[in-house]
Amino acid sequence: MDSMQNNSQPTSSPEHVYPIFDKMLPRSAKEQFLGQKGLMVWFTGLSGSGKSTLAVALERELHRRGLLCRILDGDNIRSGINNNLGFSAADREENIRRIAEVGKLFVDTGVITLAAFISPNEKMRQMAASIIGKDDFLEVYVNTPLEACEKRDVKGLYAKARKGEIKNFTGVSAPFEAPENPDITIDTSVTGLEASVRMLLSIILPKIKI
Ligand code: ADX
Repeated sequence: MDSMQNNSQPTSSPEHVYPIFDKMLPRSAKEQFLGQKGLMVWFTGLSGSGKSTLAVALERELHRRGLLCRILDGDNIRSGINNNLGFSAADREENIRRIAEVGKLFVDTGVITLAAFISPNEKMRQMAASIIGKDDFLEVYVNTPLEACEKRDVKGLYAKARKGEIKNFTGVSAPFEAPENPDITIDTSVTGLEASVRMLLSIILPKIKI
């Protein structure tokens, strides 16, 4: 039972892990089966910038075209696999690392995976890209200005952060580093949902074609 008490301790060291990758069906077989290529579409931006809204609209449009998608966002990740993580710099990094590892499993199954997380700095986003593989990683910078996100304040969190009731709130009391080289940038305070989805489709569809 000792090993159960500290859940940060790995239960087996790498030399006791026997990979079966060489016996498993390859990714290409899954992609042939689905008639699409796997891809990670990684949305980054402030809370309330529109990442999840874009991911949801994009998923519907891709699904309508017969393409299989999976959305990963705070609701299904921070309430489940990452429910032991908060918003310190270290926890945010671990949050993104696990999301990238889970995302990679979907991408390797041929699924178009849409990840919507603040992912507030370049180091984290580069870690995610290198776990998933740069060729499978499309970075979408949702650069809706802070003022617009704060005005929306869908979850009421900006008001709380301003009052000091939430510490380390991205954009207010914790940093957000703009991506250096995003594949696409969308400001949802300027570009509507339909036009945004069209822009995303024009980049994504050629990439997932078999
Ligand atoms: S990340 O920084 O680790 O990538 P993530 O996208 O998972 O963040 O979670 C962000 C969401 O958590 C926000 O949209 C907001 O609803 C909520 N949240 C709670 N506390 C904070 C905080 N201190 N900073 C940012 N978001 C927070």
